Amino acid sequence: MKKILMLTSLAVALFLRVAAQEISIDKGWRFSTGDSSQWASTSYNDQNWKPIDVTRIWEVQGYPNYDGFGWYRLHVIILSSIKEKSYLKDSLKIDLGIIDDNDEVYLNGKLIGKYGGKGGNIKSSNYGPRSYTIAANNPSILWDKENVLAVRVFDTGGDGGMYGDKHLITMADVMDHVRINTDADFSYGDNNSLGKSIKLLTTGGYIYKGKLDFALTDPENGNIIYQKTNDADFAAGRPFTYIFNVARLDKKSYKISYTFTEEKSGKSITKTEGTPYVLTPYPSSKPKINGPDVYGARPGNPFLYLVPATGRKPLIYSAAGLPDGLTLNANTGIISGSVTVKGDYPVVLTVHNSVGTKTKKFTIKIGDLIGLTPALGWNSWNAWGLTVNDQKVRTSAKAMAVKLSAYGWIYINIDDGWEAAQRSSTGEITPNEKFPDMKGLTDYIHNLGLKMGIYSSPGPRTCGGYLGSWQHEDQDAKTYGDWGIDYLKYDWCSYSEVTAKNPSLDDLKKPYFVMRGSLNKINRDIMFSLCQYGWGDVWNWGAEVGGNSWRTTGDIEDTWKSMSRIGFNQVAEGPHAQSGHFNDPDMLVVGKVGWGDNQRNSRLTPDEQYTHISLWSLLSAPLLIGCDMAHLDRFTLGLLTNDEVLAIDQDALAKEAHQQLKNEDYQVWIKDLEDGGKAIGIFNTSDKYQTITLKRNGDELKGYNKIRDVWQQKYIIANGSDYNVKVAPHGVMLVRVEK
Ligand code: GLA
Repeated sequence: MKKILMLTSLAVALFLRVAAQEISIDKGWRFSTGDSSQWASTSYNDQNWKPIDVTRIWEVQGYPNYDGFGWYRLHVIILSSIKEKSYLKDSLKIDLGIIDDNDEVYLNGKLIGKYGGKGGNIKSSNYGPRSYTIAANNPSILWDKENVLAVRVFDTGGDGGMYGDKHLITMADVMDHVRINTDADFSYGDNNSLGKSIKLLTTGGYIYKGKLDFALTDPENGNIIYQKTNDADFAAGRPFTYIFNVARLDKKSYKISYTFTEEKSGKSITKTEGTPYVLTPYPSSKPKINGPDVYGARPGNPFLYLVPATGRKPLIYSAAGLPDGLTLNANTGIISGSVTVKGDYPVVLTVHNSVGTKTKKFTIKIGDLIGLTPALGWNSWNAWGLTVNDQKVRTSAKAMAVKLSAYGWIYINIDDGWEAAQRSSTGEITPNEKFPDMKGLTDYIHNLGLKMGIYSSPGPRTCGGYLGSWQHEDQDAKTYGDWGIDYLKYDWCSYSEVTAKNPSLDDLKKPYFVMRGSLNKINRDIMFSLCQYGWGDVWNWGAEVGGNSWRTTGDIEDTWKSMSRIGFNQVAEGPHAQSGHFNDPDMLVVGKVGWGDNQRNSRLTPDEQYTHISLWSLLSAPLLIGCDMAHLDRFTLGLLTNDEVLAIDQDALAKEAHQQLKNEDYQVWIKDLEDGGKAIGIFNTSDKYQTITLKRNGDELKGYNKIRDVWQQKYIIANGSDYNVKVAPHGVMLVRVEK
């Protein structure tokens, strides 16, 4: 017993690193899989538990593919000196990095906080950063003594554990209770002016008095363009609002910083953001037909295709060469029916309005393959998480029909959170109370010319803890068919519980073969989207199991770190993209996201968002919008309605871009296109402006005469010389070269 205690103290001494006002708790943790209420207790002997690194997920530390419960324990001395040195002495803050997915935190055996778990059920998905605050006089804290911090984690699937780069014990700071809310939309005025209203808010009892500094900087040269300081005071329920308007901005992103400095403590808090700038030209009133040049459907199944077209309304649609069985509604542009005979049908689509007529060649391929070009749509997850409901889906569908379907956006996909807690007495899956009429919802979506997607998992439960399709695959596929579903995202979660501990390649493939088989029995074209985070190098066999797309990574976040790590690492995957089968680097994080009821602006800067859309288009990725569709601001709309950018994603050759060049500051990615041209993404991955040169005789430009700026839709004069382009930090220049 004594020996164990000594070891414990030694571990504490070794691992405790104390800075002036904070205690770092990123080392010294021990870990066990499984679950027991005793593991919260101070007296529990954890010396036989394995050490674990809390900067990394547990899968890479000897627990491959592990989903379920895991406990982390740490012995730590909480020094009262951090309290003495702090300004507000009232609460202690414990930062635990990221928890994937849910957690309960115990200090010396007492529950001090928990997060996630729908309706108190820990088995749902709420992954994200955790920071817990407890009163400094809470008797659970043993000041200047050894404390046991125990964290019970439940991972619903995919990456799991407690990880990240911020594990700290500090005293809550006077600024911890202050938030600078910049989520209002920018307003766009004359003279390239931009305006916005921001708020300083607090939830604490403290009355804040101080100054708000506003500064607008040109990141190209560091020059301050505009600066202003205002008195600012605010308290709980009484925010401070600051409204600004700046004019004559160039077409690029400027940096805004808002700094509030509190008078008495001298402490300050800063938030920065980039100004948005719209590159996509406003659509002409003349008709234009967007969307892919090819479309695949299976013989005998219901056919639905909305001809995507812009131009002044009303638009009148017609088509020559439609195969037998299909009709086009001249007013809505919806082609429907069913074709029995396999074959390639060349069609000429025509759209006419009061200012002109436009035609487009379009091939309908009736055969076994669907999803010839990547899916364009919306998925509820990054916006609403498990709070998705019928109304949110209808609102999204309506917004897509009004604002986006003219550019080819079609799918409205419900992610996790729609399933009832129990199957019917005969084993059918049913929707929960948030979806009172699934068939009615699908009809509503189809009537808009759009398609409807749904989500499930091969395990007994989904990642959100809802019912999965385990042993009900045929039944579920039939239910989807009865509802009129067009797309199934099929996860992995909890399948680990019903397959081998260390699944072989065959084990990894099996649930997808099974569900594909079930879907094939249904008289509908159902796109099959695999979501098992890239395990077993799924790009090698995603097509073999019938996937139209397969996720190549874990879940994306709306940060540069996450988006760039995913996007710029799609190298081995690239050659496997082909018509009908695409790599899926996860859904888009532009616009207002939140994974739940609280929506906020994406944390990607405007330049990072241009990079995100450009890169995903070069990668021939399914583009699934993940934002609140009811609040598409002008910048986000510009990102999503550039027909020439979308045409790169939808190119009929269906090749994925390859990484042509990579150095410390920038990368060049090239995608071959059907017309013999190439799309080239020149990405500045550094924090500074870069001038990047493509050599006239280099691999990128050799043999091509014309260079087109795709976002601005205009040709660039390069006069036969090298092409030099200045690219913003984390930004992109997307060009298309033609012979
Ligand atoms: C997993 C997937 C996400 C989402 C959630 C739903 O984490 O990777 O995209 O579907 O499950 O619970």
